[in-house]
Amino acid sequence: MSTSTEYSKFDKSYKLSTFFFVILLLCVNPIVGRIHRRVVDEEAENSLKNRWSIYNEEETASTRPKNPQWLTPQGLNRLGLNNGLGLTPPMGWNSWNFFGCNINETVIFETASALVFTGLADLGYNYVNIDDCWAELERDEDGNLVPRKSTFPSGIKALADHIHGLGLKLGIYSDAGFYTCQKQPGSLGYEMQDAQTFANWEVDYLKYDNCFNDKSKPEIRYPVMRNALNSTSRQIFYSICEWGRDDPAKWAGQVGNSWRTTGDIVDKWSSMVKLADENDKWADFAGPGGWNDPDMLEVGNGGMTVEEYRSHFSVWALMKAPLLIGCDIRDLKPETFEILSNEEVIGVNQDPLGVQGRRVKKGSWLRSKLQVWSGPLSGGRTVVLLWNRGLFAANIKATWEDLGLSSGTPVIVRDLWKHETWEGNSVDEIEARVHGRASEMFILTPQTTTQ
Ligand code: GAL
Repeated sequence: MSTSTEYSKFDKSYKLSTFFFVILLLCVNPIVGRIHRRVVDEEAENSLKNRWSIYNEEETASTRPKNPQWLTPQGLNRLGLNNGLGLTPPMGWNSWNFFGCNINETVIFETASALVFTGLADLGYNYVNIDDCWAELERDEDGNLVPRKSTFPSGIKALADHIHGLGLKLGIYSDAGFYTCQKQPGSLGYEMQDAQTFANWEVDYLKYDNCFNDKSKPEIRYPVMRNALNSTSRQIFYSICEWGRDDPAKWAGQVGNSWRTTGDIVDKWSSMVKLADENDKWADFAGPGGWNDPDMLEVGNGGMTVEEYRSHFSVWALMKAPLLIGCDIRDLKPETFEILSNEEVIGVNQDPLGVQGRRVKKGSWLRSKLQVWSGPLSGGRTVVLLWNRGLFAANIKATWEDLGLSSGTPVIVRDLWKHETWEGNSVDEIEARVHGRASEMFILTPQTTTQ
């Protein structure tokens, strides 16, 4: 046998064994990874339980039905949310986007006053919502949540009284988990007790987050708090915040007054556009009493241009999203105020018909960033947003066919940002020149419809 034949035999078997070894590694790696992840997850959970010592297995199991009957249509009717709130999307302010954890009662008091003296309260912004970081890291000896003494020394009840005195409403925040995202105690297993605490404090709105949960489905955990809120004598708007994880639009209409359809917004054009698209998928599921929530407004926080913020506000209004201001309204720039106080755009959001507008046209390929969003309003009217997501100015056209109007219907065109009515009637399309990363918003009123 020649050396070269021997070598080639060796080479073949070497290659073959390497091949099998690689295949073996590929097969084993995910299994090892999964086992490792499970061990790490269990360790993390146990350490959470020990650290916060608020997880009480029996209590959680007894307050949470083992058989989620409310997921059957019959159960839905019996246990469904029926608190009479949110007939139009909620409007107000929330602390998180601007302040994060740096909140205290002075900020909340001053924000409430600012809502009143700027006139924003009169335009409908009436919820003053405290987000994460308002509570002590430990419950009291009776298991009650306690306002953080260093930052909320007067307590939440005093805050609620003051805010009610201004004609506004107070919102608070908790979590369907062992603790909140910023590690104050969560309400999992304490639903009845915490709902009663919020009701005693005369809170009007609860945002209910999803951090550090027990890995059971949100469909199981969120109705527990709904039932707890319903069992108090207080009407509390219930805002579900499970980040769209389990397609809440499909089930949350019977559970909450609004549900987040997305992850957290970032103060950037790309984030805002992405969230609008994600929220758009669920348009069919929104309506009076229950709204899709693509997260709170970033208008005024500085990460987008004025035109970009105008689009942000316009598309949020058109999608019937909650209009929760997320900037420091004690220090509003005139251009921010001009956007947030546009009564005609707010009117679209608060229209009593309560139908979520949606994307009705997207150009193909190079023109895919030129879009038409639209939806029906009361009185036979139609709202239209010509939205240019590209960098360069372009003409965008919406035909009556795009908008679901009968061809030849004469309409009056009202420009909601210029506050002007177009001369004459349009009969089969509207078209406008739209700057890059900007939009134009109109209401079309058919001439034949009496309002
Ligand atoms: C996130 C939530 C945010 C904010 C934050 C507070 O889960 O989506 O809107 O509430 O928690 O920690």
